[in-house]
Amino acid sequence: MKVHKHEVIVVGAGGAGLMAALYASKGGADVAVVSKLYPTRSHTGTAQGGIGAALGNLDDDSPLYHAYDTVKGGDWLADQNAAMVLAEGAIEAVIELEHMGLPFDRTPEGKISQRRFGGHTSEFGKQLVRRACHAADRTGHMILQTLYQQCIKKDVNFFDEFQVVDLLMNQGQAVGVVAIQLGTGDFHIFHGKAVIFASGGWGRCWNVTSNAHSMTGDGAAISLRRGIPMQDMEFFQFHPTGIYKMGILITEGVRGEGGVLINGKGERFMEKYAPSVKDLASRDVVSRAIYDEIKKGNGVKGKDYVYLDVRPETVNRFFAEEGKKDRIDAAYVEKKLPDILDFCRTYLGVDPVHEPMPIQPTAHYAMGGIPTNVRAEVVIDENWTVVPGLYAAGETACVSCHGANRLGTNSLVDLVVFGRISGIRAAEYVRGVDWTPLPADAGKEIEAEFKRIRTSKGKTKPYELRARMQQVMMDNVGVYRTAETLQKAADEIATLRERFLTDISIDDQGYKFNTDLMEAWELGCLLDLAEVTALSALNRTESRGAHSRDDYPKRDDENWLVHTLIYREGHARDPKYTLNTKKKVDRSLEATDPRFAPKVRVY
Ligand code: FUM
Repeated sequence: MKVHKHEVIVVGAGGAGLMAALYASKGGADVAVVSKLYPTRSHTGTAQGGIGAALGNLDDDSPLYHAYDTVKGGDWLADQNAAMVLAEGAIEAVIELEHMGLPFDRTPEGKISQRRFGGHTSEFGKQLVRRACHAADRTGHMILQTLYQQCIKKDVNFFDEFQVVDLLMNQGQAVGVVAIQLGTGDFHIFHGKAVIFASGGWGRCWNVTSNAHSMTGDGAAISLRRGIPMQDMEFFQFHPTGIYKMGILITEGVRGEGGVLINGKGERFMEKYAPSVKDLASRDVVSRAIYDEIKKGNGVKGKDYVYLDVRPETVNRFFAEEGKKDRIDAAYVEKKLPDILDFCRTYLGVDPVHEPMPIQPTAHYAMGGIPTNVRAEVVIDENWTVVPGLYAAGETACVSCHGANRLGTNSLVDLVVFGRISGIRAAEYVRGVDWTPLPADAGKEIEAEFKRIRTSKGKTKPYELRARMQQVMMDNVGVYRTAETLQKAADEIATLRERFLTDISIDDQGYKFNTDLMEAWELGCLLDLAEVTALSALNRTESRGAHSRDDYPKRDDENWLVHTLIYREGHARDPKYTLNTKKKVDRSLEATDPRFAPKVRVY
């Protein structure tokens, strides 16, 4: 195998990976970004509505309010130190992005424009605040382009379309990764002093999802197989508004601009569930409300969807009823939400300026993942023991600034804030350590696994297993769950895993761009993550944030203000899972400010 040597190896070229690479490079390190996608095709590019920062350009705001909303929105499971780092770092990050040239929308005075989003308030929940800095509904796309240009300027080394398939550890340290060059099928070893995982989420475990096909959790699954626990996997967010059946994201920015949810009876039903903030309650609340309406038979035409309505006449009627001075017209909707209009016109034949959009909750975001501290160092237990040389940032990581439910726009903040921290820290780290050699058998195990997938002569096609897994997860590990559904999911996923290991075959035996082979391997990642998600959810006997148990409907702060760590040991065919719930939630803000103490959420 060809060996490449770079001090810092960044896995993934979305917002977190690019920010990590930029800052590791600014810190003087020799950096390689290894990405299965061409960087500007990364999933960050699909983030729409905005990046939250308490700039206070339109309403009074402060990082403390942002941190409070983040902790409250996370149903008090967020580590409060991490929420504060996020909120404070957001301001600097947004201004930095602006200075790098990101074309934010502007206020008439030329300041960065901000819009309302779910759960964004000032004065500790008193009123909604405009905090989401945006570039129309293409904010993630603009971030990606901007950061990629900066990395090019810094001469970061890019290995595009190299898919990372294993993590190399030696003497307890991360020393590199193994990747397949998609264009040739060759294995390559990337030897580093530090590895940063910034490889995104795993929404493709579910069958209705806003996530791109590439979101298969490779970095998280690889880490799990190498002994790194996964944290808080039971918390997977369903975004309330995905295009019906397709799952494509319809930004919360639609509701931020005044759009409302309407049931099959023509009612604005969020008034019942969150009387003060209504459609701008946090996502877990809104997704549950949609499911509840559907369960009551209030879906549109008796089906399992409701409407999202941003027609100017509807929005203006509700603005007037609420005594708001704002008014919108068709031109405003076209300017602020161009991609949303385009998606609906293209995929649904629905024009949102004149018709309501059929929507349903869609699997969107992993709050859990590879556990890290606020320095983006990977940690493996309740004592915060650090794995030398290993870092994670962005959706694949769980620094736990989002707790049990992420607020809209905080994913982009997370990427840039913790991506930057990971790059800075990794550059410092590599300056102070010598090279650790590669393990003697580097790459052999994963090469054998690919040979197995390529040559297996089983009866089942991987896509059949994938479709079944996605349905099982949708039906049993969705917005609502019970011990029965979760056990069913865990059992069936284990059976699917067994079949994946013993009974598959693929059709393409080639080496160049063998997507048949790569998708089969990615399915293994998804199955591993689906299994630990179901097991972690089964273990948490309470309801909190995105984890809603019908059989344990109450939040239980006495027993469950702790993170879940799940470990996997043993051979892939017979894995042993261990759960640890001794890692306590950081409550450092509450220690000096009682407003940060957990309380019942009222909207
Ligand atoms: O609704 C949205 O624009 C999504 C944003 C997010 O997930 O943060």
